[in-house]
Amino acid sequence: MKTTLLTNMLATLLFVTASATAIAEETPADANVLPEHRASIKAKPAKRGWDYDMRRITPIHGDAAAGEAKTTICVACHGPKGNSTVGLFPQLAGQRAEYLYGRLLDFQDSDEALPYYQAVLPMPQQAREMSDTDLRNIAAYFAAQVPAPTLPPTSTANIKQGEHLYLHGDPTRGIPPCQGCHGTYAEGGPTGGGSQYLAYPALHGQHAVFIADRLLHYREMGGWPRFSSDDAIMHGVAVTLSDEDMKAIANYLASLEPNSSR
Ligand code: HEC
Ligand code: HEC
Repeated sequence: MKTTLLTNMLATLLFVTASATAIAEETPADANVLPEHRASIKAKPAKRGWDYDMRRITPIHGDAAAGEAKTTICVACHGPKGNSTVGLFPQLAGQRAEYLYGRLLDFQDSDEALPYYQAVLPMPQQAREMSDTDLRNIAAYFAAQVPAPTLPPTSTANIKQGEHLYLHGDPTRGIPPCQGCHGTYAEGGPTGGGSQYLAYPALHGQHAVFIADRLLHYREMGGWPRFSSDDAIMHGVAVTLSDEDMKAIANYLASLEPNSSR
């Protein structure tokens, strides 16, 4: 059992190292940190496919009560306290604050001419109506909410297959074990990791329809979103997955009990 876990962690580590090498090659020496150096990043012409280096992300400190006051419009789609009842609208309750904030920045800075952002309208418009402080507060608010159960998996026939892929990957096809980055219970970045793991999202408690759709977006759409170094990592993962793999993993994740402890 221990050996299997070790092998999995090693496989993931190799994947991270390969991704990091690819990223390092494209990264200018003065690469900036999200979010404190945001202004200086934007002042420079983009030299790479993505704008933000998430590997040195710092914790987001927001005022959850102030954030709640700004969420009237959000809960129309994302549900009360960020617990959505529509498969394509992601659950926000209990998600990591750094991940929520990073995604909101992505939408705010997005170029709506790109097919990916066309596909996820109206998020760019929602985010542009908010100040940077609003985004931090909103992220802190949703992160502090208790996630409700997801919608049921779209099928139960492929859950076992999804579980196997999530925990072990498939070395013969280059699929890394997802748990190495998203946690054994899909609670988000592995505990004890460096600061870059702050923005590795929780996947348990998320709707199967959304997970499968998001994986498809990472694989297709010319590699977009390519907003951050983290997007570059997930594009590399998604190209190893078939449509069937995506559905199986999504159904496995939706079968997990949401767990508010991170
Ligand atoms: C009209 C419906 C609608 C409204 C209103 C809306 N959203 Fe969204 N939101 C979506 C959809 C659809 C997506 C999925 C986008 C994708 O596939 O990446 C999304 C994605 C997100 C994500 C990314 C979550 C993840 O796990 O990747 C965040 C964060 C988010 N919305 C926050 C907000 C906030 C904050 C507000 C209010 C200011 C808001 N949304 C208003 C429909 C909406
Ligand atoms: C090397 C680390 C790594 C591995 C391995 C990995 N992921 Fe990810 N994943 C990430 C990071 C980092 C993000 C955040 C990307 C971003 O900001 O867009 C992410 C984001 C996601 C999201 C988007 C969640 C949301 O709410 O928007 C999904 C879905 C996902 N990963 C599924 C998977 C699956 C399924 C696997 C295994 C086949 C996997 N990941 C393997 C690092 C990883």
